[in-house]
Amino acid sequence: MAILIIGAGLIGSQIARLEVERGQRPVIFDISPQPDALAAVVDLDTINLVQGDLLNPLDLVNVVRREAVTRIIHTAANPFLTEGAQKNPYASIRLNVLGTVNVLETARLFSIERVVMCSSSVLYHYLRAAQDEGSPMKEEAYPRPSTFYASTKQAAENFGLNYADAFGLDFLAVRFPAVFGPWSGRGGGGPTNRIRAMIERVLRGEESSLPARLTELVYSKDAALGAVQACHEEGLKSRVFNIGMGQIWSGQQVAEMVGEIVPGAQVKIAPDPRGAGPLPLMTQPMDLSRARSELRYQPRFLMRNAIIDYVNFYRGLGKRS
Ligand SMILES: NC(=O)c1ccc[n+]([C@@H]2O[C@H](COP(=O)([O-])OP(=O)(O)OC[C@H]3O[C@@H](n4cnc5c(N)ncnc54)[C@H](O)[C@@H]3O)[C@@H](O)[C@H]2O)c1
Repeated sequence: MAILIIGAGLIGSQIARLEVERGQRPVIFDISPQPDALAAVVDLDTINLVQGDLLNPLDLVNVVRREAVTRIIHTAANPFLTEGAQKNPYASIRLNVLGTVNVLETARLFSIERVVMCSSSVLYHYLRAAQDEGSPMKEEAYPRPSTFYASTKQAAENFGLNYADAFGLDFLAVRFPAVFGPWSGRGGGGPTNRIRAMIERVLRGEESSLPARLTELVYSKDAALGAVQACHEEGLKSRVFNIGMGQIWSGQQVAEMVGEIVPGAQVKIAPDPRGAGPLPLMTQPMDLSRARSELRYQPRFLMRNAIIDYVNFYRGLGKRS
């Protein structure tokens, strides 16, 4: 029995670490693995790292057969997520939608016990609101995703649910807000990389900045925890789960907290990025009650502990190099 983690990036690396802590030897599959970044999170001797392309179904079939895979956690997505998909929609649609369908087909053919797909809170924010007061037979009754990335996540989730209905495939989706945390390679989305750049600059004693806007964030170790709980908990009633920190933060609040943790840190407030058009206004965090009750998920890192852990990771990297 082996767990296959597709995508060895910011979140996939943490999932691998947690699976190792559970006593597994996970198989981690990526089109362009970054072994140095991975090794800073999980001991490479404790995992099987396989290079392969999700868009080549034979690569998937080969790894599932050779490694006797029984469960899959699918984390691969286009570079830079929302902002990346706005710039390069075709490749993002192909990877996020067709790539997920390749996972679902492979899982169906090999009777995989469960597939967990990483989805996103963009499905709450990047929406054109329903009009016509929800009247079901009207053209504008249902909200639609307003970005390419959100459309791919909605499509991929729906196809997973269709495979569950049609073939009994045990498919689950976990929806994360913006994720940040220890990772020294390429990966993540806009907020991931802005927070990473801010922490790196602060630790070098340089002035840094964050956008002012309110954002819902989750630490990567907790995003991974939610995915791992979704992979292993039994007796579930639901298939889609919110996984977050349960809080929203403004740039100013994060900057102040970084200032308390790293004495002398200078973090200015910068204009909001507009890479994917007008930014949604966040007023409340995702409701975590379903994940709490069914997955027994509880975030281990609120913002203060997350920043302390992240800063310690970078200080540790500095000592290694
Ligand atoms: N990072 C965030 O802020 C965030 C927020 C919400 C949801 N998510 C979702 O969580 C998942 C993981 O995000 P992440 O931040 O770890 O991403 P990441 O970019 O760090 O990792 C994704 C990995 O997928 C790999 N990959 C890309 N194309 C591939 C292919 N054709 N075949 C095999 N591997 C391929 C990449 O090489 C990369 O290592 C994604 O599905 C993403 O949409 C992320």
